[in-house]
Amino acid sequence: MKPFFILMMLFVQGCALESVQPGAKAGSQSGRAIYADKCAVCHGRDGRGDGPLADSLGTPPADLTRIAARRDGVWPMLEVMSIVDGYSQRYMPGGDMPIYDDFVEGQLVAFDTGNGIKADTPASLLAIGHYLETLQEPEPIRRVP
Ligand code: HEC
Repeated sequence: MKPFFILMMLFVQGCALESVQPGAKAGSQSGRAIYADKCAVCHGRDGRGDGPLADSLGTPPADLTRIAARRDGVWPMLEVMSIVDGYSQRYMPGGDMPIYDDFVEGQLVAFDTGNGIKADTPASLLAIGHYLETLQEPEPIRRVP
């Protein structure tokens, strides 16, 4: 399965997308469920990098409550989604963070990439992104797509 960005490139080519933006609440609910199911084992129930598998990994799982803090308070939605779907790892291999290319399957919704283009984006990937955003401490001072 190809990574999300490749798909995105295909989808953005001039097609007007008719899709529904998921409610923030619904998104973070399912994001929470996905997180508990796939991520908590390493990153810990609260995202602090202290899941049951953490000690057995060569690279410590990142503290996911500090994603924005590590980037000077900026919440980088696309970057986070591309870390999760594995796009970044094609360029920065290594670490023990698994690639979740199954996120490109399932329902697609429009995501505003900030340049006036709405890109079809897997709803589950957006949901996990929105959920991680709610975990940020402190609250991000700025958000970028
Ligand atoms: C097998 C353990 C493991 C699982 C499961 C896992 N991760 Fe990770 N994750 C890691 C490790 C280890 C790192 C640090 C990678 C590095 O430094 O190279 C990481 C890094 C990250 C980062 C980068 C943080 C930053 O500030 O750059 C994000 C975002 C992330 N994980 C999200 C997730 C999400 C969302 C899930 C579930 C869909 C998940 N991870 C599942 C081990 C895991």
